[in-house]
Amino acid sequence: MSDQFEKKPPVTTTDAGIPATSDEHSLSVGPNGPLLLQDHYVIQKMAQFNRERVPERVVHAKGSGAFGYFEVTADVTKYTSAAFLNTVGKRTPVLLRFSTVAGEQGSADTVRDPRGFAIKFYTEEGNYDLVGNNTPIFFVRDPSKFSDFIHSQKRMPGDDMRSSNAQWDFWSLSPETIHQVTFLMTDRGTPRTYRHMDGFGSHTFMWINAQSEKFWVKYHFKTEQGIENFTDAEAKAMTAEDPDFHRRDLREAIDKGDFPAWRLDMQIMPFADAANYRFNPFDLTKVWPHSDYPAITVGRLVLDRNPENFFAEIEQASFEPSNMVPGIGPSPDKMLLGRLFSYPDAHRYRIGTNYLQVPVNQPKSEVHSYNKDGSMRYRHNGNQPVYAPNSYSGPQANPNIIEPGWETDGALVRSAYTLHAEDDDFGQAGTLYRHVLSPEDRDHLVNNIVNHMSQGVEKFIQERAIKLWYQVDPDLGTRIAQGLGLAISLQVEEVK
Ligand code: HEM
Repeated sequence: MSDQFEKKPPVTTTDAGIPATSDEHSLSVGPNGPLLLQDHYVIQKMAQFNRERVPERVVHAKGSGAFGYFEVTADVTKYTSAAFLNTVGKRTPVLLRFSTVAGEQGSADTVRDPRGFAIKFYTEEGNYDLVGNNTPIFFVRDPSKFSDFIHSQKRMPGDDMRSSNAQWDFWSLSPETIHQVTFLMTDRGTPRTYRHMDGFGSHTFMWINAQSEKFWVKYHFKTEQGIENFTDAEAKAMTAEDPDFHRRDLREAIDKGDFPAWRLDMQIMPFADAANYRFNPFDLTKVWPHSDYPAITVGRLVLDRNPENFFAEIEQASFEPSNMVPGIGPSPDKMLLGRLFSYPDAHRYRIGTNYLQVPVNQPKSEVHSYNKDGSMRYRHNGNQPVYAPNSYSGPQANPNIIEPGWETDGALVRSAYTLHAEDDDFGQAGTLYRHVLSPEDRDHLVNNIVNHMSQGVEKFIQERAIKLWYQVDPDLGTRIAQGLGLAISLQVEEVK
């Protein structure tokens, strides 16, 4: 502190660097005004203030982030040629942003919601973004339903309030959501901190090795801090006590050198297995049971540096599932394919055409594209060629990079995935209820659902939702019906 007083502060300037004459008084004609248009300093100050916000993210608006590194701990070159994964011990700088989904920028960290887990790997072959959640699955399996789903979760058009009725209306009319809703209603829907939860790539992705062999893969980041959750009551109490609890926790842990870490485990499926697997392996509402595809540990992610400026480095951070490096590609998961379009489109709107030039989004590898100009462009290659082909040693594409494609029959359809034997919506949610959750977890699940469905949900929607819970598990359906005081006791057969 003493240093601060002893050091002479710099002179205030305009943003153009011109010294200012007062930090307190605008320039006026006499002490009572009027004010003058020539007071460029004060006019700039007011104008800049009016432009301080960029639109918040349409989803995942409230979040926190930190920097760190990813280290390879096992040889995966037989699965992928990605350069950042090619040597055990290799470290790649990362940015990880955590978030809630439905709340606005000022909303509480501890509400029931999935948590975003978005990673930017600054690799030597450009940025690789893995934009996942703390859940291995998602609510819907077609991108066409994403905005409908989000509209049902966020504020209603009339009163600008959130509506449990709308949430359960959408969920109960969309049986594919039940697995993720079950997950969300367990205590994992209210993680204690960002550090005490796992992260998932959630989708199935493709890895391609140097011999052009392809694999289907899933990413699991397992917390080294251990899983810890709040109960519903604890989460609600913390929402009142400290709405920034997760943000504060992350920042303080890193500040005191208690660096959070995650182990990266991968599930790897041989390319040919997908066609006849028991359910569609690209369906985002399903997990791959580890008994079918056991996970192998391949790396470790550590966060060891807080952002210096939240707006510049976290609010303006732009993650895009379309950023995939050679050796990694998408799968036929329609949700993933939809997301490849959506994120860069969002960034052009939210941040601007040249969002990739904001320092936090810039790759650490060199950029040699033929794109030019546009609003706020400052990076340029002098008078280098801006067209290809050219005769002046401009950059040339590398045709040897293997395109991550797959075969299709080429017919245009609007349909669900081709049916596999176990493509139903309820089986995995039932397994979660019966075999993964402890008796205490099951009690909490029932209470959390009953509490949530008691908040202004119309009776016919409650009844429709209960029919889905019966199909997950008759015991779960019965307990929820009892909790809501509804006299329906349908058998599974009756509700099909
Ligand atoms: C078709 C489905 C989806 C669409 C259209 C979609 C769209 C979006 C959009 C527009 C944003 C805001 C981006 C920004 O302004 O920076 C966003 C953020 C995000 N989405 Fe999605 N999303 C979809 C599904 C998913 C899924 C399945 C996951 C996780 C598995 C996910 C995880 C995230 C995360 C973590 C963020 C915040 C990224 C950050 O921290 O900046 N989204 N999504």
